[in-house]
Amino acid sequence: MSCKDRERLPENAEFVKLDKTTLALTIEADSLEVPWDLQYDTHRNAIVFTEIAGSIKRLDLKTQQIDTLIQLTDVYHKRTLGLLGMALYQPKNEQAYLFISYTSLRQGSIYSNLVRYEYAEDGQPINPKVLLQIPGSTGHNGSRIIISQDSKIIWATGDAASDTFAQDSTAMNGKILRLNIDGSIPYDNPIPKSYIYAWGFRNMQGLTQASSGKIYASEHGDAIEDEVNWIQPLRNYGWPQIEGMHDTDQELILARKSPRTEPIRSWTPVIAPAGLAYYGHTEIPEWNNTLLLTTLKSQSLRILKLSTDGTQIIDEQILFADYLGRLRSVLVVPNGDVYFSTSNRDWNPQPGFPRDKDDVIYRLRPTEKVAKSPIFPTKPDTKLAKTGKELYKAYCESCHKEKGEGVPSSFPPLSKSAMVNGPEKPLLKALLNGLSAQQINGIKYEGAMPSFGFLKNEEIASIATYIRTQFGNQASAVQATTVQSNR
Ligand code: HEC
Repeated sequence: MSCKDRERLPENAEFVKLDKTTLALTIEADSLEVPWDLQYDTHRNAIVFTEIAGSIKRLDLKTQQIDTLIQLTDVYHKRTLGLLGMALYQPKNEQAYLFISYTSLRQGSIYSNLVRYEYAEDGQPINPKVLLQIPGSTGHNGSRIIISQDSKIIWATGDAASDTFAQDSTAMNGKILRLNIDGSIPYDNPIPKSYIYAWGFRNMQGLTQASSGKIYASEHGDAIEDEVNWIQPLRNYGWPQIEGMHDTDQELILARKSPRTEPIRSWTPVIAPAGLAYYGHTEIPEWNNTLLLTTLKSQSLRILKLSTDGTQIIDEQILFADYLGRLRSVLVVPNGDVYFSTSNRDWNPQPGFPRDKDDVIYRLRPTEKVAKSPIFPTKPDTKLAKTGKELYKAYCESCHKEKGEGVPSSFPPLSKSAMVNGPEKPLLKALLNGLSAQQINGIKYEGAMPSFGFLKNEEIASIATYIRTQFGNQASAVQATTVQSNR
């Protein structure tokens, strides 16, 4: 019996049953405010984590005590903006560093900052130094950081909601950047004297390196095609000209003209992928050589099995769907335990959340205990959405919400909306082509409504009919032929 089996589990422990292994799910910390990034401190058996409003804290894994290390005062936190990604670098016999990425506001302009702290012997971050400051925006600020096996900073930046940055080789947005530990440009970067390592990204939310050295990033698509990409030097991942897989005529023509790299996995309807961590242990043998992915919209932990050579995702399993709420960050520690955090106190909580204990850091660890009513992993649902209600849930609900109530200042309500209840033409044009910068009942909404022109006429008609007859709305049904004549 190993020491882990003798460990007493708390009363509220839950269990996950894999093929052979049983895992205990326990709460290691609670009452947090959107813990955005989890990092392991190898000298202290502790987790250092960021909270979105600007604090950096450390959780002692033995005593569960939490200490605040820093409360940043220049973080601009609003909606998805704030103190986001972090990387802790503790090389043997050398200075340790803590890297953070956060948004700030100066004279009306938003920036994304990459800042390095010395991580002192006593575990206190000191002497901050700004390594890089790039444009930010009210959304799409990316921001995960890792330190690669060859001791380089890898920073995944967002496209700052720009139409041009991701394809502009002089802009640092929508890129994977590669820097030396002191912030300088490595001499062996693929473009001489440039931080840019790879390009063509929208809004990356997860980043990890496998033991093979391969780097993977998760990314939010627009209305379709959320992605996991295998990051290779100088590759162009296509955004915004190409979304996800090269599967439309236009995309195929573009990719033939100048080479673009496809994701190794894409999801439509979108799942809002977030944290990503490579699992390379035999501690949980079923998960060896997988990518663990937390998701926000689909509120789950996904186990993505890699091919032996790491170039493909060959299987996908889903845990905790809609059970713990939005999941933001995931961390694998050296003994093979998995930690992950919820994001139920962020700007977009799902029905039933946040709960009293949110936000929470959970641990998954193998146990010999007999599992009472365990949770089983499931396979992705391959059944296509058919009814208006299913289509609404798949494509609209994450923004406009279950009862069409919307989210104040972010997404307008569809209930009692003049456009939804009015003539068909403007409504169908908005669905087919997207919508932005409207005044709706005197309110300007942040962000834009993506276009849904990729849906079939019948699907658009079903969704339009659904929103015109639900949420207290009482307008006429829409026919597929009417959708076609508005394309
Ligand atoms: C990523 C978030 C997002 C998704 C997904 C989304 N919308 Fe929207 N929608 C918005 C935003 C933002 C606006 C406001 C746009 C503006 O400012 O002009 C909007 C506006 C609208 C409007 C106009 C409302 C009014 O009163 O004028 C309608 C109708 C609408 N959306 C329907 C839908 C439908 C149907 C779907 C699913 C097929 C959908 N939306 C999916 C974000 C979204």
